[in-house]
Amino acid sequence: MIKQSKLEHIKDAKHAVIHPVYKERNACSKISNILDYDFTGQIDKSKGKLTAIHTLGKLDYNTIYFVGLGYKDEASKYSLTESLAKALKDIDEKHLVVDLKRAVTDDITFSDVAESFTESIYLSSYDYKKVGTEEDKTYEFIAKEDVSKAIENASIVAKSINRARTLANTPSNLLTPLDLEKTAIEMFSKENVEITILDNKKLKKMGAGGLLGVNQGSDIEARMIVLKYNGNHDEDYTALVGKGVTFDTGGYSLKRNMVNMKTDMHGAATVLSAFEVIVKKKMKANVYCIIPTTENMINGSALKVDDVITMLNGKTVEVTNTDAEGRLILADALTHAQTLNAKRIIDVATLTGACVVGIGSDHTGVWSNDESFYKSFYSTSLQTNELTWRMPLHDVFNKPLKSSIVADLVNSAAPKGGGANVAASFLSEFINEDIAWIHLDIAGTSSTKETSALTPKGATGVMVKTLAHLFEN
Ligand code: BES
Ligand code: ZN
Ligand code: ZN
Repeated sequence: MIKQSKLEHIKDAKHAVIHPVYKERNACSKISNILDYDFTGQIDKSKGKLTAIHTLGKLDYNTIYFVGLGYKDEASKYSLTESLAKALKDIDEKHLVVDLKRAVTDDITFSDVAESFTESIYLSSYDYKKVGTEEDKTYEFIAKEDVSKAIENASIVAKSINRARTLANTPSNLLTPLDLEKTAIEMFSKENVEITILDNKKLKKMGAGGLLGVNQGSDIEARMIVLKYNGNHDEDYTALVGKGVTFDTGGYSLKRNMVNMKTDMHGAATVLSAFEVIVKKKMKANVYCIIPTTENMINGSALKVDDVITMLNGKTVEVTNTDAEGRLILADALTHAQTLNAKRIIDVATLTGACVVGIGSDHTGVWSNDESFYKSFYSTSLQTNELTWRMPLHDVFNKPLKSSIVADLVNSAAPKGGGANVAASFLSEFINEDIAWIHLDIAGTSSTKETSALTPKGATGVMVKTLAHLFEN
């Protein structure tokens, strides 16, 4: 639990205290004097460095944890978040009092510090195995101003990021498309959200051949989950669309290594969580959240290569690779978003291994057909400190997709490489000209094999913060 403390000064605290410190500042000569022992030279003020000083009963609390913040003029909200996260790894206290004042600068307010530290505490302590168990730590923030709103807002964002992590970390036997449907209903049935669930029968009636095609090989039905939030009168809607493949075997184009393919629904987890922030913060925005969800499996009815399916928008697709299933289910969701009259669309998907080969696992690949939409997205991602890199949309990548003699498109063809661009181009075939569209490929950024200060090993919760922030007015 994190709350604003009633205390005005750290010297009155009864519990262990955290004392943030910039390089330019004297660590605390007053406390040195009280303790009658000059420890100021021992304190490492580099970012994230921790120095514990015991008070030997001379103050109410037993330990002061000095947390280095680096140089003050280089500090940002993000650097504060990271510094505290690093230091927290070595602090094992149940109750901590945190002095926010020491981290405030001319550019960083009390609320900013409260926000950064709240996020840091939630994100760095995430542990899949502990989800659902009772929170056993208390943090009290000392601040001269009211920071309760900042704590609340940052808690909403951080908890939603952790929720995305949990959804994507959950094994596919415990999180099927039907479980994802149940989760969405549980999350939003008490909120100002209209929930529509399209099951196989309805999808068939509509003609959603992309989603149903991929679903043919699975014993579990597909779903298109549609959530609608009206927070700004009759403003145009933006749709957040997320790939929800709860497990990707590749289908008959079987993957050689399918470890971690439970996370092939991280796009769905991202948009659900970002939507949760928008709804909980009651943002002034009109937003759809659309999730096509299915497994990509093999049975006697599964899609085969050479099969031709008819998509929701009427285009026909020759399946040249059953492992390029994400674009098939997303295409139908993109069509549906436009049928619902969304004017801006962002889709998020663990779409291609080629994206990881191209730009690595630190940057999310971004494709967009609209400069101003892209600019606002990019500047938001800089604020939230989520790395992204723009990639090309160009006819040269659409061309190989039009090589079929039996259908309008093939779902996979990259004779000159650039598979991530070709996948984006496939999606662009389902976007009308008047729609501002952004496609995010998170194949590389959605999971990590290494634990870092803010992100433990496993699903990362990437892009939740940026997408939610984009709607902040
Ligand atoms: N889910 C995968 C992409 C993926 C790969 C996500 C690695 C996370 C880590 C996707 O459905 C896929 O299999 N894509 C194929 C496309 C190819 C068949 C054109 C790929 O990237 O190999
Ligand atoms: Zn695949
Ligand atoms: Zn996939």
